[in-house]
Amino acid sequence: MTTPLRLGIAGLGTVGIGVIRILRTQAALLEARTGRPIELTAISARSRDKDRGVPLTGYAWEDDPVALATRDDIDVYVELMGGTDGPAKASTDAAIAAGKHVVTANKAMLAIHGQALAEAAEAAGRALRYEAAVAGGIPVIKALTEGLAGNQITRIVGVMNGSCNYILTRMESSGLSYDDIFAEADGLGYLEADPQLDVGGIDAAHKLAILSSIAFGTQVHFDGIELEGIERVSIDDIRHAGDMGYKIKLLGVAQKTGRGLEQRMMPCLVPDTSPFGQLQGGTNMVAIEGDAVEQVVLRGPGAGEGPTASAVMGDICDIARGFTLPVFGQPAASLEAATPARSVLPAPHYLRMALHDKPGALAKIATVLGDAGVSIDRMRQLGHNDATAPVLIVTHKCTRTALDEAIAAMGHTDVLASNPVVLRIEDI
Ligand code: NAP
Ligand code: HSE
Repeated sequence: MTTPLRLGIAGLGTVGIGVIRILRTQAALLEARTGRPIELTAISARSRDKDRGVPLTGYAWEDDPVALATRDDIDVYVELMGGTDGPAKASTDAAIAAGKHVVTANKAMLAIHGQALAEAAEAAGRALRYEAAVAGGIPVIKALTEGLAGNQITRIVGVMNGSCNYILTRMESSGLSYDDIFAEADGLGYLEADPQLDVGGIDAAHKLAILSSIAFGTQVHFDGIELEGIERVSIDDIRHAGDMGYKIKLLGVAQKTGRGLEQRMMPCLVPDTSPFGQLQGGTNMVAIEGDAVEQVVLRGPGAGEGPTASAVMGDICDIARGFTLPVFGQPAASLEAATPARSVLPAPHYLRMALHDKPGALAKIATVLGDAGVSIDRMRQLGHNDATAPVLIVTHKCTRTALDEAIAAMGHTDVLASNPVVLRIEDI
């Protein structure tokens, strides 16, 4: 008789219940694939009485996730509560200290405490696995740590927040405003309890920070990410971008250059015919570029019960098989401290501004851009009925620093009627 792998699950929400459903319905398959039974021993959540749609009476109950994490009759602590600190962090620390393996879907905790948790887990000789934390059902952590281990990773590009992609694609298809579609997404339950995590780009940036660490051998460094959410993306920008052959996406990009680690998460224009441009609704996509493989593109559901539980189960199966690897693909003690760098790689940019409609206004803007070394590729003045003229400019490749310099100088002219909207155009 082979020894079962015994689980304790804290968090019985969308993901936790999804994992329990798979454990209940696929027990034979899981045993056949891992060579041993996988058994759920104990569970924890805030409310013991809630009907969660699956029978839970056969499992021991703990009110306190720390008590669950340290039970003698579990081998793996599965943390599915969420939150950077609080019970998730306390119970994960306790589980590692008690010699348990840990599986989590908690990107917020890993993006902030990943290094310390990895060091603790590796010192204890225990696994800390988190496939579900990045891009839901897409096995991107496995791809980076295992399949692509022989590559020098050169760049990672991703759309990794389904809620933002839903909002942006619905704005485009409906012609409705950001506020209208935000309310729709909220009503459908697509947004995090704190929606700012989604629309502020924070959730996607947590995921990018984790991927960067694996890809570039650096300690997770969330604070080094240039971060901008989608709240300022207007239906006008979506329409204008569409007219010029682009879509607007919340795009994460990470690359390591001689200057340091560049990580940015911000709304960008991408060609509408590109795979990223075609990405609809809550789907996620991650492109990984390596010196040997060139480019691998992974696409799939970024959230939801089944996809996220699928990723959690992949981690649990690896632990059942006895498969181990360092938390971030190489020993945590060998990860370099990240040196954050702002991108100096030039790119074309989209600018939308309102100018006071008077002689010489456009010429002044063109001069200011020229003085900062920013060359105009395309310029369009849109029809209007009032005293301010909407103007769209697409620049040739330029650095954001040069553009910021030009925008600051525009502020000193008497022609700018509102702050310009600036979006990078990413060639992907
Ligand atoms: P959820 O539906 O809100 O469920 C959270 C669960 O945690 C609930 O069962 C809640 O108990 C329990 N909980 C919260 N605080 C607790 C505490 N102090 N003690 C004990 N239990 C506590 O969340 P979720 O969507 O399943 O997400 C779980 C994790 O997966 C998060 O880290 C999230 O970021 C990550 N994730 C989620 C998705 C997704 O599609 N949902 C995708 C990728 C990653 P009650 O039910 O009793 O309130
Ligand atoms: N809020 C996240 C998203 C959930 O929309 O992608 C999955 O991490």
